[in-house]
Amino acid sequence: MITGSILPKLLLQASRAGKQERPAPARKARAKAEAWEEAVEAGGLAAAVRAVEAEPADAALKRAGVASAVAAAEERDRDLFGKAGKMPGYPEGMLRNIEEGTMRTLNLYYSSGGNTGKVAERIDRTLEELGAGHTSIRAGSETEVDVLEYDLVFVGSGVYAWLPGKPLLDLLTRLRKGYVQSGAIKPASPKLPGKKAVVYCTYGGAHTGINEAIPAVKYMAQLFDHLGLEVLDEIYVVGEYVPENMREMSRAGRLGDIRGRPDEHDLNEVAERVRGLVRV
Ligand SMILES: Cc1cc2nc3c(=O)[nH]c(=O)nc-3n(C[C@H](O)[C@H](O)[C@H](O)COP(=O)(O)O)c2cc1C
Repeated sequence: MITGSILPKLLLQASRAGKQERPAPARKARAKAEAWEEAVEAGGLAAAVRAVEAEPADAALKRAGVASAVAAAEERDRDLFGKAGKMPGYPEGMLRNIEEGTMRTLNLYYSSGGNTGKVAERIDRTLEELGAGHTSIRAGSETEVDVLEYDLVFVGSGVYAWLPGKPLLDLLTRLRKGYVQSGAIKPASPKLPGKKAVVYCTYGGAHTGINEAIPAVKYMAQLFDHLGLEVLDEIYVVGEYVPENMREMSRAGRLGDIRGRPDEHDLNEVAERVRGLVRV
């Protein structure tokens, strides 16, 4: 507890200490200049100007700072625009492998009502436009495929009772058992460099929206994750309920009126996603 007699003494000491810590004018200017440089480094010109304007700096320092910041920002922008300028024709990531003709791509899917089929077709068409030779397989009870022969695997299905369709589920089960037996699925699932997967679905979401599609997508992804492929992306596309006796679900469900989906807008979005993903 501080008694009344020593309190004024403590206050005096504190005030002296405060005065000693206050920077001298030269040090203050240097500190401002350093703060300015840091602000330019961290956030560019706009952030640096904000930083200076937030403080009552003297006009000369401000002018000198602005000049050096403009130079720094111009240099940084030249660098950024230089890189961006290369983008349109620049073969990034898998796009380079596609251009070199070394990319093996598989599109494996199941569709009972045709919605996922439309998405699969748009993926196929986009891959063709990109010049990627690929194999497209609609899963059935006789399907045999070794997904490890491919560098990029698209796998997709409609969602039925929260899971992929039975033919695809069965195929994934057969593949899992085979890969466990052959030793391709290893403890810790080490990554297979350069091998990637993209999972997609169409779903109606009438009851709980996208939440009822997530288990299906996660389920499909697991085989590829177990094998060591990098699961690059999950694409969820809304799909109307096709069977006649389920049509009301396309109008009165959690997602509102989804009749006619996937529509051209949905499919174009898929195409753009594919174009983006092959740059990874
Ligand atoms: C029998 C049946 C069950 C369905 N179950 C679900 C479901 O659990 N969750 C969901 O979001 N959508 C469900 N749907 C909607 C479908 O996922 C959606 O219509 C999808 O686009 C169907 O794909 P397809 O036309 O490629 O078969 C179901 C549809 C049917 C016919």
